Amino acid sequence: MNINYELPENIQHLLTENKNQTNTFKELIRQGGYMPPNIDLLIDAITALSMGKNILLKGPTGAGKTKFAETLSNLFKQPMFSVNCSVDLDAESLLGFKTLTYQQEKQIIEFIPGPVINAMTTGTFLYIDEVNMAKPETLPLINGVLDYRRTITNPFTNEVVTAKEGFGVIAAINEGYIGTVPLNEALKNRFIVLEIPYIEGEQLKKLIHSSTKLTNDATIDLFVRLSSDLIQAVSQGKLSEDAASIRALLDACDLSMVIPPKRAITRAIVDKLDEDREKEFVKNLVDTLF
Ligand SMILES: Nc1ncnc2c1ncn2[C@@H]1O[C@H](COP(=O)(O)OP(=O)(O)OP(=O)(O)O)[C@@H](O)[C@H]1O
Ligand SMILES: [Mg+2]
Repeated sequence: MNINYELPENIQHLLTENKNQTNTFKELIRQGGYMPPNIDLLIDAITALSMGKNILLKGPTGAGKTKFAETLSNLFKQPMFSVNCSVDLDAESLLGFKTLTYQQEKQIIEFIPGPVINAMTTGTFLYIDEVNMAKPETLPLINGVLDYRRTITNPFTNEVVTAKEGFGVIAAINEGYIGTVPLNEALKNRFIVLEIPYIEGEQLKKLIHSSTKLTNDATIDLFVRLSSDLIQAVSQGKLSEDAASIRALLDACDLSMVIPPKRAITRAIVDKLDEDREKEFVKNLVDTLF
């Protein structure tokens, strides 16, 4: 199945009218951007963002969520400030911090804005990665930024900051990842959710062609089959989720240009698995294919 990545007129229009957009999506894919599994995913993301809504990219590890955010930021020609959530994420890493500096030999307190304030005041995109890694009490600090108010009282300066036109939020979540907590309902409620699956078939083939060193069609076909078998095994609960990561698959493709494919797959995929049962399973799969 071949997908036409030409955006429909009304969507193209959303981009050109509001944002001086000149990159076409096709061109961005060619330059190594995100390859969507279907055109609807792209249309819905563009529609939501151009209407000022926040989007939440939800999907397994190595499915291209971060790549999609970057591609959208390129498409809208909006720079992107990023926050990487962890249990250590706090108000300062979101909003900024105060520091002592000198101004004409006088000591002054200066506020250094963090990613949230930067994206708001410049009217650009904010990318919040691994949004469910943060402690449950941290992200509600920016609830007002994420809803219709688009405003926050900066606790460090007491200034009321309102987002400039063009501000947009893209978050990513990897559900089921060890160490994550379920996303707070009020937070989830503030997003349009887009499921990001692993791409398969023709698209995966194109991606391997464009982003790895592998050129041999027959070998690429084998990797595409391996990937779809891995995805199926994950969905049946036979393997842990990261076994099917496209990131790991692309690594294996690259390595297989120099070392034998089986060894490449062992290094990039098999040896990351925790259980011997899983390793055996993938090895058997590989033996039947390669
Ligand atoms: N559909 C896709 N289009 C383009 N690149 C992809 C796609 N799927 C996976 N990749 C590639 O796989 C690698 C991992 O992608 P990315 O880092 O965006 O994944 P992720 O979903 O953000 O993973 P994580 O949850 O671990 O952060 C990148 O090299 C990316 O280019
Ligand atoms: Mg990511």
